[in-house]
Amino acid sequence: MSLSVHEQQSLQRYNTFGVAVAARWYAEAASDGEVREALEAARQRGTELLVLGGGSNLLLTADLDAFVLRMTSRGRRLLGEEGGQLLVEAEAGEPWHPFVQWTLEQGLAGLENLSLIPGTVGAAPMQNIGAYGVELKDVLHSLVALDRASGELREFRADECEFAYRHSRFKREGGRWLILRVRFALSRDAALHLDYGPVRQRLQEQGIATPTPLDVSRAICAIRAEKLPDPQVLGNAGSFFKNPLVSEAQAAQLCAQWPGLVGYPAGAGQVKLAAGWLIEQAGWKGYRDGDAGVHALQALVLVNYGAASGGQLLALAQRIQADIRERFDVELEIEPVVC
Ligand code: EPU
Repeated sequence: MSLSVHEQQSLQRYNTFGVAVAARWYAEAASDGEVREALEAARQRGTELLVLGGGSNLLLTADLDAFVLRMTSRGRRLLGEEGGQLLVEAEAGEPWHPFVQWTLEQGLAGLENLSLIPGTVGAAPMQNIGAYGVELKDVLHSLVALDRASGELREFRADECEFAYRHSRFKREGGRWLILRVRFALSRDAALHLDYGPVRQRLQEQGIATPTPLDVSRAICAIRAEKLPDPQVLGNAGSFFKNPLVSEAQAAQLCAQWPGLVGYPAGAGQVKLAAGWLIEQAGWKGYRDGDAGVHALQALVLVNYGAASGGQLLALAQRIQADIRERFDVELEIEPVVC
């Protein structure tokens, strides 16, 4: 086991936007030992270590004068039962969707609503991935992370991860924790979540009255495939903005002006607005400037038609942010990590 370090490595294949930038140093780690070797290699070079999973939540705006480590560790296993639930563990480098499929093939429910999300198991807790009424925090049991400063391993229970909408302590303390493996609490007979968006309707259209978790997964794959571009075909990083939280008073005011406004109660006197709706109303859906654009079917997704640079995509995002601020007095927060 010895880490292979490359210089001036193109990252184009390793970010789903397909942006062509290079890393000063690059290596892949398939084991805890190789992660430790990479930390030492970066330290010796006096440079920062940046961790890449699937590169699906990332906008690279320039060459990186850093040591980029891509997690390629593999392995998934059933650990046993705990409190009526089945614990499953996967290594950080496992691609997310094949892992979800594997759990479903084992007859385990819990991850079906998170089907077809790009990325890796280790990246999923960083931003608490979520879709169709389920977030990672609802199914995560615990995870093991390496403290880069001390070199010690630490286990975090779900309630120690500070999960919030597209947020976690690992994102807040960026650069400190390197997630090595994640455990999920699944079950053989979990209640299904069918009430978000078009999931139930899609199943009914297919004549499925009592769906299995696999049926739900298939329906969600179909819904996602209709609206979200496949990064293999059209570069993108999923939703580029978070859905913004505004006060109930502001939501009511906006609703009076724009009766079609889409929002969901978010508790604590707040409403979560559909950013895609705001961006579409502002006329950006399908907009294209050179190779940087707004997806024609989902306004929350920025796309790279081929040769857009990270800077061009970021400039487009900033124009959208300014326009939404001006029209609606709403601040859109960029969701992916920008480097
Ligand atoms: N909408 C529009 N125009 C658009 C897009 C959306 O009017 O161009 C409206 C829709 O009509 C709908 C509402 O906005 O009424 C919400 O749309 P949708 O259900 O498609 O979800 P979203 O808010 O656009 C969020 C997540 C997605 C996740 C879906 C489903 C965020 C930032 N995005 O999108 O997550 O798949 O819900 O749960 O929360 C991601 O994070 O990368 C991602 C794709």
